[in-house]
Amino acid sequence: MHCIRWQYRFSHQRRSTWIPPLLCAVAFLIFFIYFCPDYTNPGDPVDEFDKNVCMCGRCKPKPLRTPWFEQHFNGSIKPLLVGKDQVIPDHVLKWWLKLQGLNNASHIPWVLEQLFKVIPSGNPYEEQYNRPCRSCAVVGNSGNLKSSRHGEKIDSHSFVIRMNGARTSGFETDVGSRTTHHFMYPESAVHLPHGVHLVLIPFKLQDLRWITSALSTGDIKLHVCYSNMYVLCLSLQVLIFNPAFLKYIHDNWTNHHGKYPSTGMLALFFALHICDEISVFGFGADQKGNWHHYWENNRFAGAFRWTGVHNAEFESKLIAALAQEGRLKFYR
Ligand SMILES: *[C@@H]1O[C@H](CO)[C@@H](O)[C@H](O)[C@H]1NC(C)=O
Ligand SMILES: *[C@@H]1O[C@H](CO)[C@@H](O)[C@H](O)[C@H]1NC(C)=O
Ligand SMILES: *[C@@H]1O[C@H](CO)[C@@H](O)[C@H](O)[C@H]1NC(C)=O
Repeated sequence: MHCIRWQYRFSHQRRSTWIPPLLCAVAFLIFFIYFCPDYTNPGDPVDEFDKNVCMCGRCKPKPLRTPWFEQHFNGSIKPLLVGKDQVIPDHVLKWWLKLQGLNNASHIPWVLEQLFKVIPSGNPYEEQYNRPCRSCAVVGNSGNLKSSRHGEKIDSHSFVIRMNGARTSGFETDVGSRTTHHFMYPESAVHLPHGVHLVLIPFKLQDLRWITSALSTGDIKLHVCYSNMYVLCLSLQVLIFNPAFLKYIHDNWTNHHGKYPSTGMLALFFALHICDEISVFGFGADQKGNWHHYWENNRFAGAFRWTGVHNAEFESKLIAALAQEGRLKFYR
């Protein structure tokens, strides 16, 4: 606007008619260089790069936060329960108790106190500064992993997250051999090899008592340590999924499809909150549209398409949307 006015004023003096356009051009150039740094180098991606989040330099810039993502993502909700004094908000408690048919929350502080006597307090993923880059492979159990030959790629991630009945022995070429985190609940528990973090999903308060008791008495069905320090050794490996995070995924991402989100969704959003780069394998139907586990021979089992509690097709669309946003890489 200033430029236009100057131009008007100066237009009566013939000799200096070149000044206003020049001033305009210089002003524009200065504005361009100082206020639009993203456009000064067209070779750079136009993404926002928060170097505080990722110090390794190998990480790709964080994708731009679109309104859709912004509306759903809430970074202040912590994925893990990390201490006996952690506050579980009332609306979460109410929902969580209802899920298990209870209405009395009065002994929850006691349950948490007992739990954190046998597992360590503290959040291992709190450090967001000066930490190495975290690339995560979230590996579902879908039959689409069969003959995929993704094994090597999966194993190359810093974290390899598996769930429920996942197995690797005999399927290494397609699913890899490493596991750093295994998501499960008591009913889906499997034997875990040494060094794997068990991420327990407490669908019920009883599940917290189960892990407490199993760790205290050593009767948990996990082969972890062969020393006398069985309990101590094992307890270092256990992480507890936060019921508040469970509700957050249910409310904000899976939009109340199903009674609660599937284990796969829980693992995926855990990764979305703690990893810099995410690759997703083994989700959805196989190439022929069948839903089964990669270790099952009956590809027509339709094992987990409509389980009554989850809505697998909705979850597939959600993953596709996150891939579209550049939040994760989806491998088929
Ligand atoms: C994110 O979660 C916190 C804790 O539950 C809540 O106080 C806050 O309002 C949430 N943010 C948004 C944008 O909903
Ligand atoms: C909840 O249980 C405790 C003890 O188990 C009991 O003292 C309390 O009255 C109960 N509260 C309600 C609202 O039922
Ligand atoms: C998540 O869902 C809750 C409850 O439906 C809502 O109040 C909140 O605004 C949503 N968004 C975020 C970012 O938490």
